[in-house]
Amino acid sequence: MGTDDRGWNGLGYAGVFAPDPVAWRAFATGVCGFVPAEIVPGPRPQGIALPTPGAEGLAADGTCYLKLDRRQWRLAVHPGETPGLAYLGFELRTERAFDRQVERLVDEKIEVREGTQAERDARGVDRLAVVQDPFGHRLELFQGPIIDGPFVSPTGIAFETGSLGMGHAVLFVADIEAALAFYRGVLGFQRSDYMVFGPEGRGIHFLRCTARHHSLALLQIGPPSGLQHLMFEATSIDGVGRALDRALQAGVPISSGLGRHRNDGILSFYMHGPSGFDVEIGWGGVLCGEDWSERQFAGGDDWGHHGLVADSLQPRR
Ligand SMILES: [Fe+2]
Repeated sequence: MGTDDRGWNGLGYAGVFAPDPVAWRAFATGVCGFVPAEIVPGPRPQGIALPTPGAEGLAADGTCYLKLDRRQWRLAVHPGETPGLAYLGFELRTERAFDRQVERLVDEKIEVREGTQAERDARGVDRLAVVQDPFGHRLELFQGPIIDGPFVSPTGIAFETGSLGMGHAVLFVADIEAALAFYRGVLGFQRSDYMVFGPEGRGIHFLRCTARHHSLALLQIGPPSGLQHLMFEATSIDGVGRALDRALQAGVPISSGLGRHRNDGILSFYMHGPSGFDVEIGWGGVLCGEDWSERQFAGGDDWGHHGLVADSLQPRR
């Protein structure tokens, strides 16, 4: 079964925990170039949603919703003492694709439940199903997100999203074989390529569910689980350079300077986000066509990305 048969629309949204969502918002807007959601998701008793003047993306529960394209939101920062991943939302293009994917999970005897009305309201989507991967990462399958106004960042940056999704996530997994069995075997993601390293030769595996080279990568370096980084793809190389300028100006720790990845061709840099995982800002990622064949890579980069070595890929708290 090919990618299209499953009807994925990529990584649609992500939720993270942070002790101080307002501080996260300052990083997200001032450095990354996102903007606060103009209408935060939530119940719509009158059936319509109106902008909340002065909210600056903050919902009543303290969650900060951030926008990086026409979607109502793409990144939610929830208040939480333990920083890190709350959930990843993978989008199905149609109701039929959504139903088929849920049926597939049920057939595979994987616990999955339909989201409640309150959960759908909180995400601003029509359909929602909640499932955990083998390591306890919360995944949300959804369909029918809310679209609102255009994205205009004061920084001038714009992001490659649309049918490719919001970017990519890299997860630590404790057992790469179990991870691949779930994400490839059950969800139907396809492996674009992989690199083998580490004492047990597990390495990192890059999975796609759209033409984007990877919406998800799985990294086994030991027992931990969690989010290693999120990548957002700018529409221009200047978008990356200016984001790096803003990061340096703000004193954000740069975990890996500019470089070009060998496999997906992304030119990017990595910085420490405010809540335990890195944020990568990139440009120029390759797209995988129908004739793409899986391959193995040796060496991560054609140039640059200094500091991004196997020993540096450790969970950060
Ligand atoms: Fe990345």
